[in-house]
Amino acid sequence: MQTTSSLAPGTTFAIVGAGRLGGVLARALRAAGFDVLGPLRRDQSMPNVDIALLCVPDAAIPAVAFVARPHARLIGHVSGATPLTDVDFSIHPLQTFTGAETPDVFHGIGAAIAGRTAEALTVAEQLARTLGAHPFPVDDAHRASYHAAASFASNFLLTVLDAAEQLAASASIPRDEARQLLAPLVRRTVENWAASGAAAVLTGPIARGDQATVARQRAAAGAVDLENLFDALAAATRAIADRPAPAPHTPEESPA
Ligand SMILES: NC(=O)c1ccc[n+]([C@@H]2O[C@H](COP(=O)([O-])OP(=O)(O)OC[C@H]3O[C@@H](n4cnc5c(N)ncnc54)[C@H](OP(=O)(O)O)[C@@H]3O)[C@@H](O)[C@H]2O)c1
Repeated sequence: MQTTSSLAPGTTFAIVGAGRLGGVLARALRAAGFDVLGPLRRDQSMPNVDIALLCVPDAAIPAVAFVARPHARLIGHVSGATPLTDVDFSIHPLQTFTGAETPDVFHGIGAAIAGRTAEALTVAEQLARTLGAHPFPVDDAHRASYHAAASFASNFLLTVLDAAEQLAASASIPRDEARQLLAPLVRRTVENWAASGAAAVLTGPIARGDQATVARQRAAAGAVDLENLFDALAAATRAIADRPAPAPHTPEESPA
């Protein structure tokens, strides 16, 4: 085991939890040159290492941290929502992982970091940079809202896209084809939002005030049991449309 906190070559890791994130994190840390044990399954005993990184469901963190404590100098978790109560640091990669990703999946993404001590925070920061991610701080008081933001951006986005797929299917467009046809619309919308925010780039019948069209869409959504989702999203979209318009960009006048 190392005696310093820095992630020098030779720092040993145990990745605990062989799920979606555990596997890719183990591959990425190995690719970065570290000595990595795991991802460890629940029936495997905990080895002695410098750093144990818990990639288990949030509810399992306290029990797994308790088991790991005598075997590791520092314990971290990768949960966005869980406070640091049972661990020394946290690094939450702001990305969705299915488990099939290559080690470069961390390059250029954000990683929320936190540490109970300055030393542990430094380790979290170095870990993020080693993976190629951009570290940014999120403290325990803000974890729930931070993680809810991530869920809206990823999980709920899929909920909305699945609804779009269902409606396309009800319009006799096969689901596979619907995803291919809708994907360019989704990508452009995301790019517009990323560049300028929702209020500046919202289009469609709600933004135009075409109430009759919205009513016909609502009836179509109701035919496939999506009326409640439609109503909730339409109300939220109206609130965006009603926001004061962002100030237009006025290029500086050139001198006469
Ligand atoms: N997936 C993502 O997109 C993502 C993104 C950012 C952060 N994270 C974070 O990563 C962590 C894990 O999420 P995940 O999506 O990888 O979950 P997951 O695919 O469900 O994997 C969790 C793994 O933990 C194992 N496990 C449960 N209890 C255990 C124990 N007591 N000892 C050892 N292993 C145990 C599970 O094994 P069994 O199958 O035997 O139960 C499973 O292999 C969470 O904190 C999550 O917030 C995930």
